[in-house]
Amino acid sequence: MTQEHSRISKAVIPAAGLGTRFLPATKATPKEMLPVVDKPAIQYVVEEAVSAGLDDVLMVTGRNKRPLEDHFDRNYELESALEKKGDGDRLAKVRESSDLATIHYVRQGDPRGLGHAVLCAAPHIGQEPFAVLLGDDLIDPRDPLLQRMIEVQEIYGGSVIALMEVEPEQIHLYGCAAVETTEDADVVQVTGLVEKPDTAEAPSNYAVIGRYVLDPNIFDVLRRTEPGRGGEIQLTDALQQLAQDERIGGPVHGVVFKGRRYDTGDRGDYLRAIVRLACEREDLGPDFRAWLQRYVAEEM
Ligand code: UTP
Repeated sequence: MTQEHSRISKAVIPAAGLGTRFLPATKATPKEMLPVVDKPAIQYVVEEAVSAGLDDVLMVTGRNKRPLEDHFDRNYELESALEKKGDGDRLAKVRESSDLATIHYVRQGDPRGLGHAVLCAAPHIGQEPFAVLLGDDLIDPRDPLLQRMIEVQEIYGGSVIALMEVEPEQIHLYGCAAVETTEDADVVQVTGLVEKPDTAEAPSNYAVIGRYVLDPNIFDVLRRTEPGRGGEIQLTDALQQLAQDERIGGPVHGVVFKGRRYDTGDRGDYLRAIVRLACEREDLGPDFRAWLQRYVAEEM
């Protein structure tokens, strides 16, 4: 099974979607910049890439890209004001995001779908396997997923997607995978994929979530992929072609994730992420938990 492989070092973060589920907050601000407690969602995602050993990050941006670029750049005015005040803690927080990784940017132009966003990364990636992390999907750092996906790609070759079991009535919100078991308990072989199927037509309750390790042959497939559901070029459709014909770019495997994950592009999940992460914070947690307990007891 083991194939020739090069060490994966590049991450692509698509962050050019319109974020319509979060209007009007996302009218002039990318949804990836919405704060989750006190850090923008996108910073958690870049931190995750870095902790999986990916220090070359390409962000695919679109309209309203400035806040994203500014967040990962130095802010000398703010830094010197904090320096003058002797506020070392806040200064460290300001510098943290600009020191994280080498971040490159490419502009998507028209948001023609996730597949099209990934295709914008082709010149930067070249011929190596690479990771894709959706900028609005948070994976709890205590439940590492990407490291395992990279490991699985190194063993099986081809591409690796992340899957999570969901309630059957939720599957129409996700890409859905038809799978076969492998000898690894947390790994399945993906035999087919369908974007946002109706419950009755879904081949399983395995939902595709926002982490991928992709074979570079995906780019050729994406170039040939016609717009699909919603008139967008779907990454799921290109992966479906890889899954059906191993000769194109090797097999497609799925790592079944059982940890904590939040879709910060969804308002309910966004609120849950904030409450959970705030409760667990050492600085904010004790006060916030006490307030939350009182609130639930009195108001609910
Ligand atoms: P979503 O399906 O969440 O779409 O994209 P969206 O447009 O961002 O948000 P809604 O549904 O209108 O609220 C999944 C991921 O793909 C990126 C998004 O930024 C998000 O990280 N994406 C989507 C692009 O980069 N370009 C696109 O054309 C579409």
